[in-house]
Amino acid sequence: MDNTVGNLFNFKGYNFDHSFINIDLVENIEDFKIRNDDVFLITYPKSGTIWTQQILSLIYFEGHRNRTENITTLNRVPFFEYVNKTSNFFEAPSPRLFTSHIPYYLAPKGLKKKKAKILYIYRNPKDVMISYFHFSNWLVTLEKTENIEHFMEKFLDGKVVGSRWFDHIRGWYEHKDDFNILFMCFEDLKKDLRNSVLKISSFLEKELSEEDVNAVVRQAAFQNMKSDPQANYGDIIKNIVGTRNSEGRFLRKGTIGDWKHHLTVEQNERFDKIFQKNMKDFPLKFIWDINEK
Ligand code: A3P
Repeated sequence: MDNTVGNLFNFKGYNFDHSFINIDLVENIEDFKIRNDDVFLITYPKSGTIWTQQILSLIYFEGHRNRTENITTLNRVPFFEYVNKTSNFFEAPSPRLFTSHIPYYLAPKGLKKKKAKILYIYRNPKDVMISYFHFSNWLVTLEKTENIEHFMEKFLDGKVVGSRWFDHIRGWYEHKDDFNILFMCFEDLKKDLRNSVLKISSFLEKELSEEDVNAVVRQAAFQNMKSDPQANYGDIIKNIVGTRNSEGRFLRKGTIGDWKHHLTVEQNERFDKIFQKNMKDFPLKFIWDINEK
């Protein structure tokens, strides 16, 4: 059976990126053997994945914090479901750090035994959508869309890698008691990076000295990551993925509320209506504006 439409590979109702999917792993995902000290970073695309990969890598690896080792964050905290030729997950030394966009229902069964940790990062979905629109138009492997209006249709219908944003966050949140999971939002990282780093390291039971925390915060700051080839996916995007233009960047604006510069009043109202319908009674709060308390 062909599960591919455009750049999407649908497996059990969820859209993966067809270009890079590790089909063998995904088909056996439920039985993937989890170790107690595994850490999974789970996100919906464009929610701050690369940022948190960097933070995790800096927390775990002294050679990253003090820059004595030249290893990209993508190799230190590799994608679980997408092909990574340099690592063999079965033989990788502990602790293994993974990045993933999978929905809760595809999680390896061993994660439900609650020892391995999951960090779930979410972001207000209007900024996710705008970031995704630019990203999709930039990378050759993703489908280009002429305008926001058209992209918004696809995003709200889940016709993108990651499927529907609403289902992703609701699914993980509503099943949170099955997992050892911490929910944090992009906007909190943005507003108080230091405190967020402390929260993450405490959840991971990784004690850091004040000097270590300073090194993490410094190297996870937007401007530093933007110019750091270990952190900004520059090489892989240029040499493996390919782009439609040279102006785009993975680290584009890195702010809260960029959606206000892109959505019309009508589009915003339509989005709000759909958001309210889908997120009614959802307890997590979202931050829509950089000046919001
Ligand atoms: P924008 O496109 O809005 O700028 P992901 O890694 O999940 O694809 O998310 C990418 C988004 O996270 C981009 O958003 C990017 O700029 C932002 N981002 C990455 N690192 C960041 C950092 N250190 N500080 C703030 N935003 C960051």
